[in-house]
Amino acid sequence: IKRVTVPQLKGCKGQRKIAALTAHSSVFASLMDEYLDFILIGDSTAMVAYGLPNTLSITVEQIAAHTAAVVRATAHACVVADMPFGSYQKTPEQAFENAAYLLSAGGADAVKLEGGEIMAPTIEFLVKRGIPVLAHVGLMPQHVNTMGGYKAQGMDEATGKQVLADAVAVERAGAFAVVLEGVKEELASAISAKLGIPTIGIGASVACDGQILVTEDMLGLNGENVPRFVKRYANLASEVQHAVQRYADEVRAGAFPESKHCFGVKSTTPSKA
Ligand code: KIV
Ligand code: NA
Repeated sequence: IKRVTVPQLKGCKGQRKIAALTAHSSVFASLMDEYLDFILIGDSTAMVAYGLPNTLSITVEQIAAHTAAVVRATAHACVVADMPFGSYQKTPEQAFENAAYLLSAGGADAVKLEGGEIMAPTIEFLVKRGIPVLAHVGLMPQHVNTMGGYKAQGMDEATGKQVLADAVAVERAGAFAVVLEGVKEELASAISAKLGIPTIGIGASVACDGQILVTEDMLGLNGENVPRFVKRYANLASEVQHAVQRYADEVRAGAFPESKHCFGVKSTTPSKA
């Protein structure tokens, strides 16, 4: 299989919807690969893999290591690595150094970063130097401290205009697509109609050109407290708990392992070495 390229993702606009999810491990990435257009190693890895309270405390080295794990396990989906908080906001040069590391050490095909008008010069700097950028506007989780929580963005006319201006700015700067997070349908629809690049929605309605969710959320692995925009397509938490409980019960009862799981134990079914 040939991997989906960034120009192919961009070319989906007006042709077909883009389906994306997050991943941080080889196991899950390999299971998802054939069905998705791209896989994001989100900075949400901080929360779903490390138990951190928000996305702020993950490093470029950590994202690169998780990206490499995803790249090794996949052959089809385009692989996009999130730029951690503090790794790109200072200067375009800082952003380039860290984005280049995510491509060279991590093996990512592209990077994602949060910010609209304010990050446009940085996006242009990266793209002109060979680093494809997926932008991210609307609700930006790295702004949790200035927002005082996670709040839908652009709900009134003035802030809606800002989100639209941000989306226009990142397209002009050369982003190949833009994540729209936590914006109302009317705004997502207006932005998707205005832009020539695909919009990837998360909590941004079906008006977007594609969708992304955090895999643990949609598989029911992340507790009951998921945002309202999440649809749970499975309840893997109970599957995992049930399996682990049965295992522990059988270990304590001496029912596992059986002779077929053991080496050098005489049984009717010979064990394979
Ligand atoms: O970190 C993340 O998972 C994201 C998403 C767009 C889901 O940024
Ligand atoms: Na993110």
